[in-house]
Amino acid sequence: MITFDHPADMRNWSDDAHRQGKRVGLVPTMGYLHQGHLSLVEIARRRADLTVASIFVNPMQFGPAEDLERYPRDEAGDRAKLEAAGVDALYMPTGANMYGPGYQTTISVAEVTSGLCGEARPIHFQGVSTVVAKLFNAVRPDVAVFGEKDYQQLATIRRMVRDLDWGIEIVGGPIVREPDGLAMSSRNVYLSPAEREAALALSRSLEQARCACRSGEVDSDVIVERVRSVVATEPLVQLEYAAVVDAESMQPVDRVGANTLLALAAQVGTTRLIDNTLLAAA
Ligand code: PAJ
Repeated sequence: MITFDHPADMRNWSDDAHRQGKRVGLVPTMGYLHQGHLSLVEIARRRADLTVASIFVNPMQFGPAEDLERYPRDEAGDRAKLEAAGVDALYMPTGANMYGPGYQTTISVAEVTSGLCGEARPIHFQGVSTVVAKLFNAVRPDVAVFGEKDYQQLATIRRMVRDLDWGIEIVGGPIVREPDGLAMSSRNVYLSPAEREAALALSRSLEQARCACRSGEVDSDVIVERVRSVVATEPLVQLEYAAVVDAESMQPVDRVGANTLLALAAQVGTTRLIDNTLLAAA
């Protein structure tokens, strides 16, 4: 696995691959990798000839009171995992190579980022779309893979690529969960044992909602109420939002329809967790 820390070197490698007629796949990450990230690498490998992973903890997408300083890191472990997963190139830019002196450009995707996590984290998605745009320009992927765990992020990137005529294929990978249902996240390491146990209320509430949906419930308010009542049984978990939205526009819908997402965010102690599920009317 070859490593690059400068966009020009990364781009040379990718241009060379393209000259040889190879398709390049990209999996962007912030590191501290788990099976969720590695599942995306597998998807990328199936869809491309050469797979690039990136690791960059992007300051632009963290709010002033968020966890940028304590975000977990494990470069040696990440390298070993990516190598074992068959990644061909690792792009790990330095902060200065990503945002040089005088940096001032951002990309913002309006409607898709207006609700849900965009409300509690006002500058978050602008930071995500900007860094992903820069990763795309350095790696020039033919296909890029993002997890459905961060569904609003996936929808934002899809919209950005379409709006900017990028021609990159964006693929979503299913949420990978721990055996007990908790969605894997680099942030799960912050949880105390009691919080880790309490956090299961989130995936349980989604399962209950899916179950209600299967039995014919299509009213968004009723579904959200079901989520609230399950989460309310855990005093350590404070629900930030639960919402039924269209999975492309991320705008609220009154009833479950063709492409409907139930998304939630919660505070568990000092840790903010998100989870979601697609809903299908019976
Ligand atoms: P990070 O949180 O490291 O996640 C990298 C990718 O892994 C994202 O596409 C995310 O949705 C996916 N992922 C995380 N947990 C997952 C799980 N349990 N199952 C499936 N996929 C999962 O998301 C980011 O980094 C950043 O915002 C980034 C896109 C790299 C831009 O900085």
